Amino acid sequence: MADKRVDLSWDDWDELQSARPDENDFDRVVESALSRRGFLSGVLAFGSGAAVMGAGALLSSTTAAEAAKTNRFAFKPIGVATDATVHVPEGYTWDILTRWGDPLFSDAPEFDHATGGDIKSDRIFGENTDGMELFELEDRQLIAVNHEYVNPKLNLPQNEDGKPVSAEEVLKFQNLQGVTVMEVTEGAQGWDVVQDSPYNRRIHHNTPMRIAGPAAGHDMLKTDADPHGVEVLGTMNNCGSGKTPWGTYLTCEENFNGYFGSTDASFERSDAFKRYGIGLESRYDYEKFDARYDLSKNPNEPNRFGYIVEIDPTDPNSTPVKRTALGRFKHENAEVVIAKDGRVVVYLGDDERGEYLYKFVSADVYKPGADTENLLNEGQLYVAKFNADGSGTWIALTPATTGMDAADICIHTRLAASSVGATTMDRPEWVAANPISVEAYCALTNNKNRGKKPNAGGDDTSANAVNPRDENHYGQIVRWRPALENHASDTFTWDLYVMAGNPNLYGDQYGGSSNINAGNLFNSPDGMAFDSAGLLWIQTDGNYKNEGDYEGMGNNQMLVGDPVTGEIVRFMTVPYGAEVTGLCWSADRRSMFVGIQHPAAPFPDGAGKLARSAVVVVKREDNGILG
Ligand code: FEO
Ligand code: CA
Ligand code: CA
Ligand code: CA
Repeated sequence: MADKRVDLSWDDWDELQSARPDENDFDRVVESALSRRGFLSGVLAFGSGAAVMGAGALLSSTTAAEAAKTNRFAFKPIGVATDATVHVPEGYTWDILTRWGDPLFSDAPEFDHATGGDIKSDRIFGENTDGMELFELEDRQLIAVNHEYVNPKLNLPQNEDGKPVSAEEVLKFQNLQGVTVMEVTEGAQGWDVVQDSPYNRRIHHNTPMRIAGPAAGHDMLKTDADPHGVEVLGTMNNCGSGKTPWGTYLTCEENFNGYFGSTDASFERSDAFKRYGIGLESRYDYEKFDARYDLSKNPNEPNRFGYIVEIDPTDPNSTPVKRTALGRFKHENAEVVIAKDGRVVVYLGDDERGEYLYKFVSADVYKPGADTENLLNEGQLYVAKFNADGSGTWIALTPATTGMDAADICIHTRLAASSVGATTMDRPEWVAANPISVEAYCALTNNKNRGKKPNAGGDDTSANAVNPRDENHYGQIVRWRPALENHASDTFTWDLYVMAGNPNLYGDQYGGSSNINAGNLFNSPDGMAFDSAGLLWIQTDGNYKNEGDYEGMGNNQMLVGDPVTGEIVRFMTVPYGAEVTGLCWSADRRSMFVGIQHPAAPFPDGAGKLARSAVVVVKREDNGILG
């Protein structure tokens, strides 16, 4: 019988893992949201330019034409699209850099439009491109990029629901996910991947890695294959990314729970497994053919995933390192900033309905050229609490505040966060820090459970000031400024930069904030990155049906926001079905690399061909700088 679960999004699949009761007193929830709707009444926490956003006054007093004359955007914004291709503004071009299945090495198998390709698939660019960063190495440019998951039906079309039925088919899936490191170069014909570059590398579900930080060697991380709890094979569901000032790549393990199951149906899941959504059946049937993923045989294996992994892209022989000090949850991305006092701060979102926003602060300061091994091993993990008055606190997760030991906090971070009363969030996706102003932004993509159901740990998810809308289908972006202009500070002020919505349909909060207008409708902000000019690029992963609540929003898109004025304009649209995720710039900033994940349209090869996730390059026709 067809298994409908394969067609579920990762988020909806999660809901099946831990059924939660509907909250009954819905009236109370709505009442509370209205009385605290910080945004519409103005959460005036910020200084000068930003305060106008909170007051909601700016764009209502400025016509679109006036804004166009004075804004900082170098292009004419584009309209929505519902078609099967990419659109960029007039004066810009786009091209394919690489697609799922393209060779990294000259001995790679050919892409096969029936099944993707053969089992030697760790010689090719993996599927479902996600977080992405560019590194300069003398005169070379390297891109490290994630491959979040595989589409079973595209890779194993001969099997029911695309589920693997052999160890070899499981291996195909394992090899297509993880990370690619590739050298790229620009020639007369545009950008290309340098085949057979000594830097080209695939990291996947079977790549040896080291475990470091407070949880390394803990009993909960020990397995028969690794009795010391310090070595693990693979990284999985690599979602967003990060880049350190010392030139390493951070890949973020998100929906790792979906890879584990039990061949023994009587296996009793712990409360922690339930909190993390680890169920008896995986999405890909790994557990049936690879005992490592079978909870009944290796119950500690899932404790070895859900971390930030540090990779040195400039050394193809280096061993990736899981940095347990940065906590274990569904990591979205890892935004690294050096605080005013020299310490390393990493902002981290846990992308699940009603989960939390975190930051890590290193114990030591970053000194260029000094040893960086312990910077992400020793430090303090915090979780965010947003107050209705526009203030906020980073609550330290320590043995004293949580009652848990240091290793347990790193392994069961969600439980630690719940114990200190942090603010449940509408799915924290990417965090981006402004390079020219001491502030950071987090995309809260959406949360259909807000005001309806608690999170998987039973924490109340009534509407709150920063997540003010019940059944939030549109999402919002929150930003904060740390006290003393120091990202290491434990207090901050915040406001909402934007609430997405549909003002054509709603006159209340579901119509969005005042910087949403007919020309920039979107839903579900997800990927974000600042350019060097301090403009915020916003990528969406939302509903693309262009009907009902989403009418007028079209396909997923990339927009650009000005943090000072609040203006947001549309720069790019992608083929139907795809999300836009992953963004980085070439060394000269004349090219921008953008990831297009899971198109439903037959992109980029056209009708009759398999839909392939791809990285595209965007340039200005005059080869000008674009960020
Ligand atoms: Fe993989 Fe939360 O996006
Ligand atoms: Ca994402
Ligand atoms: Ca998303
Ligand atoms: Ca995705």
